[in-house]
Amino acid sequence: MRNPLSTAALQAALRAEVPTQASVQPQLDAAIRRSASATGQLLRGRLVAAGALSQGATRATARRLAVAVEYFHLASLLLDDLPCMDNAVYRRGRPCLHHEFGEATTLLSALAFINRAYTLTAEALAAYPLPVRRAAWACLESVLGPMGVVGGQARDLHYAAAKGGARAVGRIALEKTGALFRLAIVLPALLGRPSRRERRLLNALSTYVGLAYQAADDLQDLVGEVAGTGKTTRRDEELGRPNLQLALGPEAAGARLARYRRLAADAYAGLVAEGRHWTYLEPVLRAGRPAVRNGRDVRRLNTAA
Ligand code: IPE
Ligand code: MG
Ligand code: MG
Ligand code: MG
Repeated sequence: MRNPLSTAALQAALRAEVPTQASVQPQLDAAIRRSASATGQLLRGRLVAAGALSQGATRATARRLAVAVEYFHLASLLLDDLPCMDNAVYRRGRPCLHHEFGEATTLLSALAFINRAYTLTAEALAAYPLPVRRAAWACLESVLGPMGVVGGQARDLHYAAAKGGARAVGRIALEKTGALFRLAIVLPALLGRPSRRERRLLNALSTYVGLAYQAADDLQDLVGEVAGTGKTTRRDEELGRPNLQLALGPEAAGARLARYRRLAADAYAGLVAEGRHWTYLEPVLRAGRPAVRNGRDVRRLNTAA
């Protein structure tokens, strides 16, 4: 495997690519810079960089794609925390951006990150042949739009009124959280033109990793503390948000989580059987895992969000 991009290099890239400059309106400029410097574990960005490198991308391309996916993710968190959504107070161990800069500047910052993320993606893909670019655009469209994160967030907000139960909880988790894992896993893989079977396995892996990650996040919402998680907890019950633990009870939710992890491991094993170059995906099997083990690990995980 080629030398991965270090976390420090990725953090530096997130700061270097900020969609702002000295001439930008001062509050917006400060808000954008402050958001880009408060990174999580960079789980998605590291996956993208490793994936792109393993598919033969240049380091510049891998870096651009990784930053793009982290910016998409960051924008989704800025919006998710707003008073009109989850009305959160803390994120990544600090007050949410809207608490420091207001809602309007937060909305504009999220737009700025999304805008830059598309440009970075376009630059990263520019040298690839048309079929690869087409597949990448289709992936972005389905993952980020109303069939993905945007739609998942809409369903999340209307969950209580829709009275959907555990089935709806899974569907929403797939759309709002699984989508970004699909982006982080499938987008870089597309650069290497995976076979149909590999694509099926990549989709399965991101599905079950996403479901497991959100199930662990749901548990964290119920039992975690800001001091440990770095973000506002105890919101799901209060706001009537989908939460696997609340929908199924602890025992059934635990069994469901174990099943998601087993299925993710099966998909990963299937991929590795297709070719050793998929082994860079192994760390994704641990995404969200520490949250359900003990308090110390919850602290470690939390910045992952
Ligand atoms: C948010 O889900 C998913 C997106 C940002 C798309 P949650 O609302 O459960 O995430 P946390 O718990 O605030 O991190
Ligand atoms: Mg939410
Ligand atoms: Mg939230
Ligand atoms: Mg949550």
